[in-house]
Amino acid sequence: MADPAAKQQERLAALLQEGRTFPPPEEFRRQANIRDVKVYEEAQRDLEGFWGAQAERLDWFKRWDKALEWNAPWAKWFVGGKLNAAYNCVDRHARSERRNKAAILWEGEPGDSRVLTFGMLEREVNRFANALKSLGVKKGDRVAIYLGMVPELAIALLACAKIGAPHSVVFGGFSAESLRERIQDAKAKILITGDGAWRRGNVVPLKHHADEAIQGAPSIEHVVVVERVGKAAHAAMKEGRDFWWHELVAQASDQCDPEAMDAEDLLYILYTSGTTGKPKGVVHTTAGYLLGVSTTHRMIFDIKENDVYWCTADIGWVTGHSYIVYGPLANGCTTLMYEGSPDYPDRDRFWSIVAKYGVNVLYTAPTAIRTFMRWGAEWPAKHDLSSLRLLGTVGEPINPEAWIWYHENIGHERCPIVDTWWQTETGMILISPLPGLTATKPGSATRPFPGIEAEVLDERGRRVGPGAGGYLVLTRPWPAMFRTIYGDPDRYVNQYWSRYEGKYFTGDGAKVDEDGYFWLLGRVDDVMNVAGHRISTYEVESALVDHSAVAEAAVIAKAHDVKGQAIAAFVTLKEGVQPTEELKAGLKQHVANKIGAIARPEDIFFTPELPKTRSAKIMRRLLRDIAEGRVLGDTTTLADPAVISKLKQQYEEEGKGE
Ligand code: PRX
Repeated sequence: MADPAAKQQERLAALLQEGRTFPPPEEFRRQANIRDVKVYEEAQRDLEGFWGAQAERLDWFKRWDKALEWNAPWAKWFVGGKLNAAYNCVDRHARSERRNKAAILWEGEPGDSRVLTFGMLEREVNRFANALKSLGVKKGDRVAIYLGMVPELAIALLACAKIGAPHSVVFGGFSAESLRERIQDAKAKILITGDGAWRRGNVVPLKHHADEAIQGAPSIEHVVVVERVGKAAHAAMKEGRDFWWHELVAQASDQCDPEAMDAEDLLYILYTSGTTGKPKGVVHTTAGYLLGVSTTHRMIFDIKENDVYWCTADIGWVTGHSYIVYGPLANGCTTLMYEGSPDYPDRDRFWSIVAKYGVNVLYTAPTAIRTFMRWGAEWPAKHDLSSLRLLGTVGEPINPEAWIWYHENIGHERCPIVDTWWQTETGMILISPLPGLTATKPGSATRPFPGIEAEVLDERGRRVGPGAGGYLVLTRPWPAMFRTIYGDPDRYVNQYWSRYEGKYFTGDGAKVDEDGYFWLLGRVDDVMNVAGHRISTYEVESALVDHSAVAEAAVIAKAHDVKGQAIAAFVTLKEGVQPTEELKAGLKQHVANKIGAIARPEDIFFTPELPKTRSAKIMRRLLRDIAEGRVLGDTTTLADPAVISKLKQQYEEEGKGE
């Protein structure tokens, strides 16, 4: 055991280093794609000119008439242009000298692997696009995808894009009920799933979940099943409704003309958690999205022709959509996909993959870095990481201690780190260093990308001064911005564009320092960020009150050393129900069954009453104070202040609800 005092000192020392800045290493700067700081000024002066010039890198079937039509909050980019996202990601490279270059390097969890060159990927995408057509899928039909990280997942996205059928990917860790809700909202016609998925050597029964989900989702006409696990998955096929992927593609032609899509045609829907109500379908369209993700990918990750690039996210989230599939492939870049967990079979799996494939650029999450820190530097030290040139992080604020650990133990003090801030809604990275230009400060995402304008405002919409906290807003449109919430344009307007007239409200707190650097401070709404996953308190509360023993529940996120935040639930039980340990475990499992394991509460605490204001609003702020062991904040608006002091005492006596 490390001496706690020494540990504390170490932590303090690391925090003090927050003041250090890290200019781009000379060797890196010399070879960087973006070396001229004028890029910021140019984009600032002529936004349409800047993006228009970048758009020349894409292949268009018809050139656009106008780069931007902006009637806040409605944006149209590249009006009149026609193109196809899959053609840009695959076909055009397959017809160039990149034909036999690796497009996807895939590493399976059990140790199997697959390489798809651009030429092979083109044929696979075409075969599956034709298979979809044979099942009656037409331009505009929505296709739901619920798979593990297998190559077919990327192929499915691209096949949908090829024929103009918007995809809606649902993360394979979500429950049957979450899947059903998303299928229903999008009214998807086809569901693509797997017999199962590998996770730490165990089987996730995807097909079982899918079968359960589509009871009550009548829009689904057919299910396509990728065989990954085999017998161990015990997947049952329904005659006439379900088809094996490999049987469909065996009969399909490998030629398929791309659908000429309008620049503003729907490319995909991706559901994410909001503050209230059900998950929202974030809508991304074709040209602006593809341009935004490919441009940021090239500039921020400094992509070179022979790079092997690895983003460790799951394609079930936006990071995987933008920076495993669309961004890298549009750039003709080799993208690596890993199926499994970082600790299977051992805690050095990531580092063995970096060494095995000679990864040059690695993009991962702070929660993963903190996990690696806990496991110890001996795991990465076993492997040759000298191929790495650049490191990235995304998903939550990175604490300086984790930044420094990443810099020293993975980047060997040689690789710049890009801390990238963005959201499902923004589609592309918006705040990040440009690694050949920007001096980085551990914990800061640094500056808005060229052409992006961000501000930090107070409640009344005034800009706050250096160092003061406020609300992060964006004041200019960007090409990959979401266009609406699927089927709910009012929610798009009200939730994002109404708090400050004509400005995009991010839901994040931030401060700007004297150098104009942005420091992200986490969500200011009821959205939690647990291990980089976005979950709303409302969803978890709904799942809890759905249990027959529960009368009322209040859910909060409390600070957690590894996950960033962890879910804590305060629960009142119905009359006569006994507050037992078994019930606690049962409630945790119930939430996992309803939403998915990512939403399982860490702590559940039974209380006879919840602290409420006189207008019966639960005061979550005070619950957070209790869960994080702080002195209680202002309690004067409570209907009965005695409730909270009793609750605090009880919480401390019972040892943090466990
Ligand atoms: O709070 C911010 C946090 O993640 C939220 C967006 O979550 P999601 O839509 O799931 O997308 C995650 C991947 C893009 C943001 O509102 N966040 C994301 N990146 C950062 C971050 N917070 C601080 N620093 C970041 N680099």
